[in-house]
Amino acid sequence: MDKNRHLDADLREKLILGLDVDDMAEAYSLIDKMAPYIKYYKVGLQLITKDGPRLVGTLKRKGLKVFYDAKFFDIPQTVYNACYEAARYGVNMVNVHALGGEKMISYAKEAIMKSSDKMKLDPPLLLAVTVLTSFDNRSLKASVKTDFDVKKMVLALAKSAKKAGADGVVCSPHEIKMLRKELGPDFVIVTPGIRTGKISKDDQKRIMTPKDAIASGSDYIVVARPILKADDRVLAVENILKEIKEGYDNAKRRKNS
Ligand code: C5P
Repeated sequence: MDKNRHLDADLREKLILGLDVDDMAEAYSLIDKMAPYIKYYKVGLQLITKDGPRLVGTLKRKGLKVFYDAKFFDIPQTVYNACYEAARYGVNMVNVHALGGEKMISYAKEAIMKSSDKMKLDPPLLLAVTVLTSFDNRSLKASVKTDFDVKKMVLALAKSAKKAGADGVVCSPHEIKMLRKELGPDFVIVTPGIRTGKISKDDQKRIMTPKDAIASGSDYIVVARPILKADDRVLAVENILKEIKEGYDNAKRRKNS
């Protein structure tokens, strides 16, 4: 097993653009503009609710990849049914909340495998959301009434998600090194909470630059506002891709030294 598996993937695929825009026309024109630079698109709750299936269909027809960020969290059978439908669209990643429990996650996995098999599609990666990047230790304690700090909670949830059949997790870049060490090189790690230079944190708490997240071992970084709010979106993407390459080269150098 290659300890540095994440280094070998196509670098352009490591950036997932979060399509967090208010209307469908803007989403479609954004995709056309970004398709030469970005292969992976995250369809989140807003656009899923507006017109998810049509948007996913368009992305697939253009040969682009889709992270269906529905963050399902319900009783196991309901999540089974939802994941069955999501996998029918041919998405490449779908996620559930790890807090939904091992039974829910194992049902999600079973649904994905059954549905993809029936449709003769590659099954999407099943990701479990650990602790949202908008939480820090204080807000986690205040909301969830737990004595676990963020890191301990992320590790516990990631371990149980893996045991239940998840292919990977969504976490903050701050937990990558710990999870790589504890869960091995093949467990997929997807990290939002990415910020470049002096850009606003917005509502994110546990943030990191693209370069450091990739150098730490993130398989995919999810970026929305740092690109969407930029004066020049293409330039913002080019800078992030440059950072991804630098982070990748740093990690490779460390591996070879
Ligand atoms: O704008 P920004 O880059 O902060 O957006 C991050 C995106 O990643 C948002 O669409 C958000 O819903 C998503 N996300 C997250 N934290 C998670 C899972 C998904 O921020 N744990």
